[in-house]
Amino acid sequence: MSQHLKQSWPYPELVAHRGGGTLAPENTLAGFREGIRYGYRAAECDVKLSADNVCFLLHDDTVDRTSNGQGEAKLKTMAELSMLDAGGWKGAAFAGEALPTLANVAAYCRAQDMLLNIEIKPCPGRFEETGRLVAQEAARLWAGAAVPPLLSSFEIDALRAAQAAEPALPRAFLCEDIPANWREILRELDCVALHCDHHALTAELARDIKQAGYQLLCYTVNDPADAERLLAWGVDGLCTDRLDLLPARR
Ligand code: G3P
Ligand code: MG
Repeated sequence: MSQHLKQSWPYPELVAHRGGGTLAPENTLAGFREGIRYGYRAAECDVKLSADNVCFLLHDDTVDRTSNGQGEAKLKTMAELSMLDAGGWKGAAFAGEALPTLANVAAYCRAQDMLLNIEIKPCPGRFEETGRLVAQEAARLWAGAAVPPLLSSFEIDALRAAQAAEPALPRAFLCEDIPANWREILRELDCVALHCDHHALTAELARDIKQAGYQLLCYTVNDPADAERLLAWGVDGLCTDRLDLLPARR
């Protein structure tokens, strides 16, 4: 799988960050619907575990910023999380949006032929189990799909657990700054891609990563001029909040 994906990369150049970027409440199905509306064929989302080990979408450790609830996500069951309004904070038009499970998102993406980058975003202290359970759930939900979801994480322990649980699912090492030992990390985790903050990338680093045989993705690219420069450096994918400014084209 990894060698094959390195050779023929199935994911499009533009990836909607957190579902639909900043045009809809992040990590909700309303965001994914916005992606489809803009012609996007791929999205990224953040996935963690509820207290009862259901894989669901949320960026922060707490539900405070992006819902009408309060408190640590890891202490809430999925039944409790399902009661929250994850859209009203973004505007009245989105009131009542639910915090989706990964299963909800898989059903939507598979029905719409939308590809997914699952960022494994563990709650504190849950790195290994989140990597393992998200990978297992992703393998189950995308069984038989032509293109599997791409798993990524800032957390090496989560990626290592995902690798052990579902080695056939492609993995990307996610980093803000690109560490000096990126080659060793990508090799050890058998990653197909490196995914970095675009501010950390230089033309030289992009060349080295590409020459080493890896796909290269950048987040969060919202300025069309930045997008053009990064693509000229050989970057394969751009994760963006601004679906309206970066039109889906390839
Ligand atoms: O996966 C790329 C990007 O989502 C990483 O940063 O904080 O938006 O999850 P963050
Ligand atoms: Mg993310």
